[in-house]
Amino acid sequence: MSDRPKIFVKPNGSIRVTGEVDFVDADGKVIETKENFSLCRCGQSKEKPFCDGSHRDAGFQG
Ligand code: FES
Repeated sequence: MSDRPKIFVKPNGSIRVTGEVDFVDADGKVIETKENFSLCRCGQSKEKPFCDGSHRDAGFQG
């Protein structure tokens, strides 16, 4: 049994997701299940939708 997912918006950084989450396509089909990852919210990541740390070099504030 996995932990209940939680989402943290990190100051000047990514959106951290902890716990197990299903990624689904437009039809609702599960395409991947992932646990503990960060989503980009600065728009600079080369690995979208995931954060690759580029927000630091970009000086993202938010
Ligand atoms: S938030 Fe980290 S690369 Fe965009």
